[in-house]
Amino acid sequence: MAYMSKLKYSDVTPRAAYMNRRQLMGGAAGLAAGLALGPVLGASKYSVDLEPNTLEDISSYNNFYEFGTGKTDPVKYASQLTIDPWSVEIGGMVDRPGTYGLEDILKKVTLEERIYRFRCVETWSMVVPWVGFELNQLLDLAGVQGSAKYVAFETLFRPEEMPGQKTVSLEWPYREGLRLDEALHPLTIMATGIYDEPMPKQNGAPLRLVVPWKYGYKSIKSIVRVTLTDKEPQTTWNMLQPNEYGFYSNVNPEVSHPRWSQAYEKPIGGGLFAKRQETLKFNGYQEEVASLYDGMDLVVNH
Ligand code: MTE
Repeated sequence: MAYMSKLKYSDVTPRAAYMNRRQLMGGAAGLAAGLALGPVLGASKYSVDLEPNTLEDISSYNNFYEFGTGKTDPVKYASQLTIDPWSVEIGGMVDRPGTYGLEDILKKVTLEERIYRFRCVETWSMVVPWVGFELNQLLDLAGVQGSAKYVAFETLFRPEEMPGQKTVSLEWPYREGLRLDEALHPLTIMATGIYDEPMPKQNGAPLRLVVPWKYGYKSIKSIVRVTLTDKEPQTTWNMLQPNEYGFYSNVNPEVSHPRWSQAYEKPIGGGLFAKRQETLKFNGYQEEVASLYDGMDLVVNH
């Protein structure tokens, strides 16, 4: 495969061919990234049939305030983050609390490719071919107790390597949370890669959450702590502006942000003349997730 030495086949091959190739190659596709990722299964029934953005788009236009508030700060400064070794502290209402090494976790979970829509609250959107595993698999390792109702997540706090943490742009560490049923939903993944690359540092290496029916800020990056609790956890953006950023943060074109409409989105990567698109309720995942919110007022619980 010498011809692929510079370009990844995903850079030069149309998506359908890329997916077939990945399915054919099975474990071999994961081999290049294998040391970091382990074997990867092929296309998932949860993937959307849309053309993914390029790796270049996905890894050069980011929000990662630990490295600055500008869209290109993460790609400029994230390389200084050390991610090896990495472990996740799992605690609270679990049977087996403790420090879980990432390498050990990866031996016990099933990695899959998931092509998901990704919608930022700022109204831009992308389609991302994540590689990851269902969060429910990680929670199973720790053994969730019956009393748990929520899952809280925290990002690494390491100001020597994350210059944004020396500022007060946000309260550190970055934190997020999900209701337990949201966390257990098969669409909710812990992502470890994009295309056949290990997760770029600017995208939240080595392990970040992806919840495709919620605004992007719920998808917390570079996670070091997961806590099972019976109280709704505090979340970074909600602490900053509770009326603008609710706990649920489900993508909803009918509920405007106080300062702008959420009815439309601008796909990144379409060039100067890219058309805006209508935003879909639950970011297009209505069929899979709407029942989680039966009987709830989605304006009050935005
Ligand atoms: N996680 C941490 N730790 N810090 C952040 O600043 N930004 C969030 C989310 N996760 C953020 C984070 C926001 S606002 C968005 S839109 C997504 O990450 C962006 O993910 P991407 O850069 O991979 O597109």
